[in-house]
Amino acid sequence: MEFIKVTPNHREYIALIELNRPKELNALNLQLMGELRDALKQLDDDDSVRAIVLTGNERAFAAGADIKQMAGKTAIDMFNIDQFSTWDQIKKTKKPIIAAVSGFALGGGCELAMTCDMIIASETAQFGQPEIKIGVMPGAGGTQRLTKALGKAKAMEMVLTGKFISAEEAEKHGLVNRVVPVELYLDEALKLAGEIAKMSPVAVKLAKESVNRSFETGLDEGLYFERKNFYMCFASEDQKEGMNAFVEKRAPQFTGK
Ligand code: HXC
Repeated sequence: MEFIKVTPNHREYIALIELNRPKELNALNLQLMGELRDALKQLDDDDSVRAIVLTGNERAFAAGADIKQMAGKTAIDMFNIDQFSTWDQIKKTKKPIIAAVSGFALGGGCELAMTCDMIIASETAQFGQPEIKIGVMPGAGGTQRLTKALGKAKAMEMVLTGKFISAEEAEKHGLVNRVVPVELYLDEALKLAGEIAKMSPVAVKLAKESVNRSFETGLDEGLYFERKNFYMCFASEDQKEGMNAFVEKRAPQFTGK
């Protein structure tokens, strides 16, 4: 991997992925995104990993798709490159991904953070969809996910003016889970991953899938989907372990079986 750094067991059951193009503010070129897709697939298949933290560095989570790589492309080039199939694969990751964001999260960088399941932000984080300033618009989910998170008025203003919002504002509108001092953002994300890693990995995956379903369906269909996944939990050893441990007044030992 040239543009990302992957540590599968950074902490027990927790993998860390660091975007690693610091000079370019982690601009997301095609190779980086391909590496990220492959790493997430491997971690999703690795039983020793239960949660994933994705981060950049203090100055930038990612300043967007690589403008230099896109500048000369035609619509047909973009169609043939089909970069969004990579994003579609990333979205299919079953294990929870927590974005630890400091500095710039712009354009594709903001979209990548929003593709994750939760966001822990440092107080220096800035979120924005500035594509409009370079003659295009968001293409990796910005118009949809930002609108669902912030509501139409705020999202529209950001997308049409390219204005950034601060971490504090992002928290106020529910885009991020919480804001912490810059020296703590990664640790806070790892701590959150650690809490999730103590739960049944099967139930966590089914629950993630069910929450995400709410974005894609009406209430009745979503409730039906939730119910099926709830029943599915009862096919796991973890359900027996979790409920027996409660009755026996001891801590559960989940195995993901
Ligand atoms: C390529 C980028 C880049 C990007 C920064 N760089 N962002 N290269 N693509 N998105 C490079 C700069 O060219 C520069 O390299 C180096 O990183 C440092 O950036 P500076 O501009 O010198 O830093 P600064 O003055 O601090 O400004 C930071 C910034 C600015 C405000 C984040 O770099 C900026 O506006 N970047 C572009 C943000 C953007 O428009 N993102 C949306 C992209 S489109 P050199 O070698 O020149 O010094 C998009 C579409 C997504 O994301 C949909 C498809 C996935």
